[in-house]
Amino acid sequence: MVEVSTSLLNAKEEEIIKTIYELEVAKTDYFHIDVMDGKFVENNTSEKMRKYTESIKNVSNLSIDVHLMVNNVEEYVKDYIDIGVNCITFHIEACKNEMEVLKQISYIKQNNCKVGIAINPKSDIEKVYEYLPYIHKVLIMTVEPGKGGQELLPKTIEKIANINKFIYENGYEVDIQVDGGINNKNAKQVIEAGANIIVAGSYIINSEDYSKAIKIIKQKI
Ligand code: DX5
Ligand code: ZN
Repeated sequence: MVEVSTSLLNAKEEEIIKTIYELEVAKTDYFHIDVMDGKFVENNTSEKMRKYTESIKNVSNLSIDVHLMVNNVEEYVKDYIDIGVNCITFHIEACKNEMEVLKQISYIKQNNCKVGIAINPKSDIEKVYEYLPYIHKVLIMTVEPGKGGQELLPKTIEKIANINKFIYENGYEVDIQVDGGINNKNAKQVIEAGANIIVAGSYIINSEDYSKAIKIIKQKI
């Protein structure tokens, strides 16, 4: 079953409550919160995304899917655990060593939150393999992290297929989430490669009809 996590990164700040409400009516499965610290990536969205998360909690019961693009993983994990979200995904590239990755995984899980590991286009997918038994999802970046509205990098499709095969062969229960540049033209391809959670920002936010855009991404129409 394919699910959609709508990124609010490019939503109009002045209309965010209306957008949240309309996305819930349009049946997005999750809200995707892109937290950027201005160090791991150039953009800094930390204040804005904290506000958006609080707004979602005030007006919606839908799950909040947090994507941390930050250097200080521990600090932001604590922040978002305190706010109370459903899933926190951090970048393997932001962790110094295996110990730090495992520490964050267990801290997030101990606080009744799902945990994911994100991996950039240039990073080898094998880097995540050892953590698969302990995480709920792997987030494969299909663009360089840092902004919305980019084109999907075609070479990332093979990474989806490779990790999908590895997960299947080892009997792991891990969702494969893809993030960046997903639209009506490439959604089928990433789903066929093995993705089952699709992050889409611009394609949905810029559409006339959120419900139709979500259904198209899910290949339901
Ligand atoms: C990029 C973010 C993505 C992005 C998706 O760093 O992680 O979630 O906002 O937006 P689109 O779908 O417009 O690429
Ligand atoms: Zn994201």
